[in-house]
Amino acid sequence: MQKIQFSATASSTLDHFDSLIVAVNADGNLISNDLTDKIQIQNLISQLHQSGDFTGKTGSCLMLSMPNGVDVQRLFLVGLGDTDKLSDKAYLGALQNAAKQVLASGSNQLLNGLAEVAPKGRNSDWSARQNALIFQKSFYQYTHPSRGTFSNDTPKLNAMSFTVNADQKSLSLAQATALGMELTQDLANMPPNYCTPSYLAQTAQELANTYGFKAHILEREQMQEMGMGSFMAVAQGSATPPKMICIEYNGGGDEAPIALVGKGVTFDTGGISLKPGESMDEMKYDMGGAATVLGVFKALGELKPKINVVAVIPSTENMPGGKAAKPGDVVTSLSGQTIEILNTDAEGRLILCDALTYAQQTYKPCKVIDMATLTGACIIALGNHVSGILGNDQTLVDQIRAAGDETYDRLWQLPLGEEWDEQLKSNFADMANIGGRAGGTITAAQFLARFTKEVPWAHLDIAGTAWVSGKDKGASGRPVPAMVEFLNQQAKS
Ligand code: BES
Ligand code: MN
Ligand code: ZN
Repeated sequence: MQKIQFSATASSTLDHFDSLIVAVNADGNLISNDLTDKIQIQNLISQLHQSGDFTGKTGSCLMLSMPNGVDVQRLFLVGLGDTDKLSDKAYLGALQNAAKQVLASGSNQLLNGLAEVAPKGRNSDWSARQNALIFQKSFYQYTHPSRGTFSNDTPKLNAMSFTVNADQKSLSLAQATALGMELTQDLANMPPNYCTPSYLAQTAQELANTYGFKAHILEREQMQEMGMGSFMAVAQGSATPPKMICIEYNGGGDEAPIALVGKGVTFDTGGISLKPGESMDEMKYDMGGAATVLGVFKALGELKPKINVVAVIPSTENMPGGKAAKPGDVVTSLSGQTIEILNTDAEGRLILCDALTYAQQTYKPCKVIDMATLTGACIIALGNHVSGILGNDQTLVDQIRAAGDETYDRLWQLPLGEEWDEQLKSNFADMANIGGRAGGTITAAQFLARFTKEVPWAHLDIAGTAWVSGKDKGASGRPVPAMVEFLNQQAKS
């Protein structure tokens, strides 16, 4: 993805720019403090407003080519409605629409006036950062060769300045986030015959080579020998070799790292507890947690914050077959705790528990955060707009939630407690891998909690947020923004 050159110093003149984008409110007023051609621009807008050709309605965007009396090739007008009542959602939606139009044009050097407006409770710094993120992220196109032939017009947009002063650090943060999201989206969009555990391992290795991370990959035989009986029970049904992918980013000296653990099921058929056929194709995004962790590492490589972070990614397919695990099988996890597999479709927790144990044994982390498309129940509980978050350390949960609020990549906390833990009782092992239909997201987290007793831990259930269904079907790149923001805040300045 080609990088936009962002400038943090405000510009009020149109010299050096071929395009200008400005905000207009519902009264047809240009929102701009000291743009040089302000009066001419306002005249144009007033005419369009009177004729009804541009009402300033929230989210509308109109491009004027060679605007009269304004010294640019293109002028983009973006309607933001009643700007006193502007919501985050409306503002960000308008930016997405505007970015699409700018990138589809011949625009090369853009002066951006949209950060002069901020939604309720936000400021122009926030707006500039969101503009940087959304314009950069809008370059993303799914171009994997398996897609076949299609026209791939790369946008010409090369540089962007704002009409307000912006913070260079926030602009870099936004850009790194967009690059991370691109990787996350690409991996989750890729067909499951291409995006295999080996492919994820290779991607991690390439990231390590590019950015100087340490990486190591554990293979099936090794993991069997080490005693990862739970992860291996999921992997045994698949002919495709499983991998445990480990990466270390060292930017914070010798302090204990934060461990990120991502569910990397590259295809979830359900196993012997086979899923119904409808929309089963979407289960290629069951590696959305892994893709998020890799995207976050890409952002870390770009930003180089002063912090230590390790990634541990268990990756496998979940397949039925002659070698597959059966309901009723009892396995011994790396922690020594035994598990009765009552449903082979609850495979995410089976691979995560061994990864969580391995991460703690190997890296002695100060905090552990896992990300997983773990339960359909999370989509039923929360829908597709917020990720679920649960954990054993309220400070950690609050910090991640705050990072999600700041980036509008929101999370909502669900409770944990002994009452739900009791649902995991088994007559034949230390625990069952399912807890019944009631509170499915909570019992899944309760299962993981049994493997993270000694460390501050948070679990993100991203089943509803990592993927967008319907007409614009595809990976969302979430929760990369929240996680990059969180890690950046944890870093020493
Ligand atoms: N990968 C699924 C969860 C999922 C469902 C993610 C829909 C995204 C969209 C997970 O492995 C799974 O199958 N979970 C089961 C758990 C159940 C058997 C306890 C579920 O949610 O039905
Ligand atoms: Mn499953
Ligand atoms: Zn799954």
